[in-house]
Order: sequence, then C-alpha cells, then structure tokens
Amino acid sequence: MARLDEPPSPLLAAAMDDIARDTDAFFGHLLGPSADARAPLFDAMRHAAIGGGKRLRPLLVRASAQLFAVDGVCALRTGAAVEAIHVYSLIHDDLPAMDDDDMRRGKPTVHRAFDEATAILAGDALHDLAFEILSDPATHSDPFVRLELIGELTRAAGPAGMAGGQMMDLAAAKHHFDLATITRLQQMKTGALIHWSVEAGAILGRIPSDARGPLRGYARDIGLAFQIIDDLIDVEGDATAAGKAVGKDAAAGKATFVTLMGPERAREQAAHLIDQAILHLAPYGLEADLLRDIAQFIGARGY
Ligand code: IPE
Ligand code: IPE
Ligand code: MG
Ligand code: MG
Ligand code: MG
Repeated sequence: MARLDEPPSPLLAAAMDDIARDTDAFFGHLLGPSADARAPLFDAMRHAAIGGGKRLRPLLVRASAQLFAVDGVCALRTGAAVEAIHVYSLIHDDLPAMDDDDMRRGKPTVHRAFDEATAILAGDALHDLAFEILSDPATHSDPFVRLELIGELTRAAGPAGMAGGQMMDLAAAKHHFDLATITRLQQMKTGALIHWSVEAGAILGRIPSDARGPLRGYARDIGLAFQIIDDLIDVEGDATAAGKAVGKDAAAGKATFVTLMGPERAREQAAHLIDQAILHLAPYGLEADLLRDIAQFIGARGY
C-alpha cells in the first residue's frame, strides 16, 4: 500500500522547482504591468498567478508530454493554460459568495488584497487567457491539436466539469449526498482539470484517443485521491502549511469523503487509489517515473 508520509523523490523535487520557476516566468512575461486604468486588473492577475501553489497541473502536463517526446515550450504553454483556469477557479472559489476565504497560497485572497469586483474580473481574465494561450500556434503547430486541447478544456472547466462540480459542492451543504454522488461531484470539481492535464501530453503528442486508456485510468485515480487528501487537509491540516484556512467544510456542514467514510477509511481509500494509479502506468517504462512520483506525492502531501 502506498505510504502517505514520504518526502518527494529527488526527481520530483527537482521537477517541482523547475515547473514553479518556469510557470512564474511565463506568467510574468505575459502579465506585464499596465500603465492605464487596467493596472489593478493586471496586478490582481499577477498576485494570483505568480509565486505560489504546487503547480500540480502544469507538472502533470510536462510529465505526460515527456512520455511522447513533446517539445518543452509546447508543454509549458499548455500547462500554463490549465493553471490559468485553476487560478481563476480558486479566485472565484474564495469569494464571499462562495467559500469566503481570506488566505490562499499563504497570501491574502484576491478580493482581500484588491476588492470583489477586481477579483471577479481577474478570474474572468485568467479564464480567457487560458484559451488565448491554447489558440496560439506557439502552443502547437497543428490546429487540430490546438482545437482538441481547447474543446477538452471547455468540457473540463464547464458545467460537466469544474463549474458543475462547484455547483454541486455548494449543494453539498444542504443535501445529504451519498458516496456515489460525492464521487461524481469530486470528479467534476477537481478531477476534470487534473484529467485534462494528464491527457494533454497525449494530445500534444498526437496519440490517438483509443490509445490513451492507461493515462485516463491514472488521471481518474490521482484526481480522486487528490480531493480526498484536500478534504483530509481541511479536517486535520494546518492552515500555515496549507496556505489556506482549514475547517471550512465542517463549518459549512458539507459532506465530503472524510465525513462519509471517516478519516481512517478516507486515508486508506486515497492510498489504494495511488497504488491503482501507478499500476495503470505499467505499459510505460522509466519515462513514466515522474508520473509515478507525482502520484506518490499526491498521497503524501503534508496535512
Ligand atoms: C486546491 O488545489 C483546490 C482543489 C482543487 C482541491 P491545489 O491544492 O492544487 O492548490 P494550489 O494550486 O497548490 O494552490
Ligand atoms: C475548490 O475546492 C475547487 C475548485 C474548483 C476551485 P475547495 O473549496 O475544497 O478548495 P480549497 O480547499 O478552498 O482550496
Ligand atoms: Mg469550495
Ligand atoms: Mg474553497
Ligand atoms: Mg478544500
């Protein structure tokens, strides 16, 4: 059974440093300060997008792209696109109308550092930035590849994905969802963007859809494990280490994996999913070691 308390491997530690540096540099380059009245919008986008977060989704894109020898710039741009969507989702998730949080990635949330209107617009603009990046020929020379990335990301972020999951998550405070419904909610809310990130490497590598089964299995399992651990962090974690408030789900009366299964079984379930995710990578050799180490890290991140 996967251990839930191991430090990142040297391979993963180096890859996490590299993706954090490269993603910061990419957003820094795209989001230069504005000299006109839009300045607070760019400042807010930089506040949210630069300097923080685990950069899990860009790392997954890079790791899956490496399996298929995809050009590094294409993978970095694709990873930045999904990170832009993720950051937008966090800005909006933290708003008073949703989770009403004051801290994110160890910094004040955007509506706290700026104001609510600026936070809404910064989220909107980061959402748009994702598709601007993906539609640019610098992301991939083949327009069919760009269109597939865009089409899949609209599905992963929209009502059948993240936004739909967020709507169900709000309802989870009022309804008594069972485990099957919570699983579906989490697959949409968190799993869909993680799934896209893993599959993006195969899309960039022009791997046909019917040959992506192992990667899809891996993505589904790490996505669920990731949200179980996020829910455990909310129950047992430390706000300083997490960089965000904890205890929010219980305060809102939200059903999660942890409330339904209890922390012990939730931990076992996460460890089982991590093992299963790694088994899905059996068709790949050493070139999938980074994906294997990411799965271990998802199970092991501190709380
Ligand atoms: C937090 O995501 C929100 C969820 C989807 C659970 P992450 O834990 O990946 O947040 P960052 O990117 O590291 O800040
Ligand atoms: C939010 O889930 C996931 C998103 C789609 C943004 P949470 O509300 O559990 O995320 P945290 O705990 O605030 O990071
Ligand atoms: Mg939320
Ligand atoms: Mg939240
Ligand atoms: Mg949470």
